[in-house]
Amino acid sequence: MNTFNTILMRKSVREYSDKPISDEALEMILKAGQAGPSARNRRDWHFIVIKKAETLQKMAGATGPRVSMPLRNAKMAILVCGDKSSSAGDFWEVDCSIAAQNMILAAYELGIGACWIGTFPDEERMQNHKFLFKLPDHIAPHSIITFGYPKDETHFFDIKEDKPILEKEKIHFEKW
Ligand SMILES: Cc1cc2nc3c(=O)[nH]c(=O)nc-3n(C[C@H](O)[C@H](O)[C@H](O)COP(=O)(O)O)c2cc1C
Repeated sequence: MNTFNTILMRKSVREYSDKPISDEALEMILKAGQAGPSARNRRDWHFIVIKKAETLQKMAGATGPRVSMPLRNAKMAILVCGDKSSSAGDFWEVDCSIAAQNMILAAYELGIGACWIGTFPDEERMQNHKFLFKLPDHIAPHSIITFGYPKDETHFFDIKEDKPILEKEKIHFEKW
């Protein structure tokens, strides 16, 4: 796969097979997460890797029933957290988003599906995860990424058909 194809093929995968994720694959995903740019190069992210089913269920409970289905059957999740004490100020919000997306793309490249579960800026979900993981005051939960090999691989390597490749009306040259 090349990077461009990976970007176009990536889609949220919410149902996973029982195949475990190896330590080698996890390390590649984590490296990708930390390879992104960060404001003032402050690298103001922390990742909590969760494989225990019991903790994944608790995270689903802390997120809410409507959107947390991927957590209920994921083989692994990573809670991306931002360091609010960094001198980059509120840029942790952006830096963590980049880290999260990098990990999703790296996983895809490895044949592992992923889904972003929104946490920041939902105050209740953030507070719930802060409590669940006993995070220090300066650490803010930002996003949860669930991972697992896809239960159904049929369209995993297809470019998404129901998604516009290029919405030309949203592209502006030189002026609005
Ligand atoms: C900030 C953010 C929050 C999201 N939250 C959830 C979520 O809580 N649960 C979920 O199943 N998907 C969630 N998603 C995935 C989106 O629903 C998904 O990316 C979107 O529908 C486009 O589909 P695609 O990822 O397959 O291209 C989230 C995505 C983003 C970027």
